[in-house]
Amino acid sequence: MSHVKKLEAISKKTGFPLASPELAGHLDSTDELKDYREQFVFPTLETLPRESTGDQSQKCIYLLGNSLGLKPKNADKYMQEAMDMWGRRGIYHHTSGRIPAAYADQPCKPLAAKVVGAADPSEVTIMNGLTVNLHLLMLAFYKPKGNRNKIMIEDHAFPSDRYAARSLMRVLGVDESRLIILKPGKDGLFKTSDILQEITAEKNNLALVMLPGVQYYTGQKLDMESITKHTVDLGIPVGWDLAHAVGNVKLELNAWGADFAVWCSYKYLNSGAGAIAGAFLHSKHHGKVPSHLEGWWSNKQETRFEMRDVLDPAVGVECFRLCNPPPFLTALNLAALEMFDEVGMDNLLKKQELLTGYLEYLLTLKLKDHLDILTPKNSQERGCQLSVVFRKDVSQIHGKLENHGVVCDTRGKVMRIAPVPFYNTYTEVLTFVNILTDIINT
Ligand SMILES: Cc1ncc(COP(=O)(O)O)c(C=O)c1O
Repeated sequence: MSHVKKLEAISKKTGFPLASPELAGHLDSTDELKDYREQFVFPTLETLPRESTGDQSQKCIYLLGNSLGLKPKNADKYMQEAMDMWGRRGIYHHTSGRIPAAYADQPCKPLAAKVVGAADPSEVTIMNGLTVNLHLLMLAFYKPKGNRNKIMIEDHAFPSDRYAARSLMRVLGVDESRLIILKPGKDGLFKTSDILQEITAEKNNLALVMLPGVQYYTGQKLDMESITKHTVDLGIPVGWDLAHAVGNVKLELNAWGADFAVWCSYKYLNSGAGAIAGAFLHSKHHGKVPSHLEGWWSNKQETRFEMRDVLDPAVGVECFRLCNPPPFLTALNLAALEMFDEVGMDNLLKKQELLTGYLEYLLTLKLKDHLDILTPKNSQERGCQLSVVFRKDVSQIHGKLENHGVVCDTRGKVMRIAPVPFYNTYTEVLTFVNILTDIINT
């Protein structure tokens, strides 16, 4: 059943109109995930660095988990524990305690492996930041040879991805004109059939296909499974930037056969600004990992301190690690990933479909003459985020929303609004749309 039909059925059963506080309250009280909201710290109107009207002790309406997720309360506890261990044990912090610093990334791995659909933790590593991981993995898979030297990215790709692809080509002496920029349709969205066709047309020239799981600007989820299978069948390496997909949509990287993927953890993974990132390398490559950059942490744990002249590579994607892991960052990542493990992606996605569906329904009901929603209507082709284009100046609308304690953002002419199943409520979604309607109508 579509999310609209589900909402209409609930409205019929309860007798509450869909845009009523009673209906939103009913959805909140029957929400199986409602208690998780209490496990996050919310900015209040008072703590935000913006002037706003109303009760200052009130929680803001935070609709920006697509950019920076909220802080899980356990983050303080885990960070404090890592700090204490450093203080109390000094160098012994590396090898003793609940989470020895030298192995601080290890507890995160099985949890992250589940979130991205890895076959087992050896396909996943927790390291660096996203763009660094993008470079490390692209460098391994992009092996230009003669005319087979093109990289495919999407139009309007996130700047870091564009800069990474172009600079990689420059470093390897490939002309930047060999970058293929996939064009969307008139609606700004990509059609899977067009993507597959373009990949087929360029099959003899492509050395790497590098695409986003969820596009940052439109919120469109690409058909990762079809694109991966098609590209792999043609013998072309395929990598995914999962910045906006991880913790937001269902991922089955191993089953799909993706060569590699990279992600950041500060958006839907709630691991804090500049959080430690992740990378996936499919186990089909573990026997013969493409040549890549190495550091001492690429060495197997068992022989690392033999300080060998020649590297004894770690099994799986861990051979891409360069440095010893930062226990403070992994502490934050662990606190957040444990919550994903407890709830499970399927439960999060069930709520997400209804929550974002409710936002879409209300925006359409109340404001269809004032805005267009860029994001696909089909909930299978998106995650939490809706990207909205207004007929009025978006920056003015955004400023006024901030004055009401609403947190969302703008990118160019688009406003990105992302209710997150872990901590947002249906009542917040309704309140947001009511505030927006007042702003637009005055
Ligand atoms: C799609 C995408 N790629 C790359 C980045 C860059 O991330 P980082 O600064 O963590 O390297 C971002 C950041 O938001 C992003 O959304």
